Amino acid sequence: MAAKNKKTKKTMATKADKFDCYLQSVQSADHEIDIFDQVYKDAYKREPVTLREDFCGTFSVCCEWVKRDKDRKAWGIDLCPETLQWGRDNILSDLKPTDAARVVVLEQDVRAGNTPFVDVLVAQNFSFWIFKTRTEVIEYFKVALANLADEGVMVLDMMGGTACYDTTITDKRTIVKGKKGFKYHWEQAYFNPVNADASFYIHFKFGDGSKMKRAFEYHWRFWTVPEVREMLQEAGFKESHVYFERENEDGEDSGEWERMEEAPNNPTWLSYIVGVK
Ligand SMILES: C[S@@+](CC[C@H](N)C(=O)[O-])C[C@H]1O[C@@H](n2cnc3c(N)ncnc32)[C@H](O)[C@@H]1O
Repeated sequence: MAAKNKKTKKTMATKADKFDCYLQSVQSADHEIDIFDQVYKDAYKREPVTLREDFCGTFSVCCEWVKRDKDRKAWGIDLCPETLQWGRDNILSDLKPTDAARVVVLEQDVRAGNTPFVDVLVAQNFSFWIFKTRTEVIEYFKVALANLADEGVMVLDMMGGTACYDTTITDKRTIVKGKKGFKYHWEQAYFNPVNADASFYIHFKFGDGSKMKRAFEYHWRFWTVPEVREMLQEAGFKESHVYFERENEDGEDSGEWERMEEAPNNPTWLSYIVGVK
């Protein structure tokens, strides 16, 4: 009988909210929008107004976008009802009603392509890598192109570098220090050099030692920059540009992103590919 009344002790992992941990560890909507503004201005010498965020998850980028200017509108697209609802309850609800009214969220496949024309269409955190064949990616890029205004850009983030293929590596970062804090683990779990299939897991580890294992998992094709540029061209984009972060004289990141035709061969890197309509 005693066992029946025994309460299971709640750990930090069981109490934590995986979306909240993700937002604190992975996403920086402000930085992303700075990049979108910059690459759009580089292409068209003016500020963009409308955004479509494909694979938007909790659509924090859409919410940040409309906060920046009263004319800005955003459309977020994602298949997952649970993730979208979290965004409505925790991010959209924090916006002023006049800002929130300029965000539209659609629960659908990104290939449905039925949104108004936008200036900037983005797919962040490597999400389009879910499409594993050239046919699927090109089909998706064609839908994206058809949803862009005459002066429009598509922005895709990319990762790479020799260390990204090493399945013995787990990148560990402390997000909040101390006993009440947590760490983010990015596990590079699998890579197949024959077809470039790759699996990654996000785990969170908490100050009390408890873990939320595989809070998020991704099974992707590890696409390379030249492959993606070729597919953008095949889908009909007029041109594409690759943005890397410039290094300062000490080889450190400068915070300045610019178009590059040649970039340092670092063990890990992030970049943006911009398709111009
Ligand atoms: C890696 S998460 C990216 C979330 C967010 N963009 C970010 O940067 O953090 C991928 C998201 O894509 C969604 N997704 C996967 N396939 C999709 C598809 N075909 N159409 C729409 N959403 C999709 C998933 O539900 C998930 O929320």
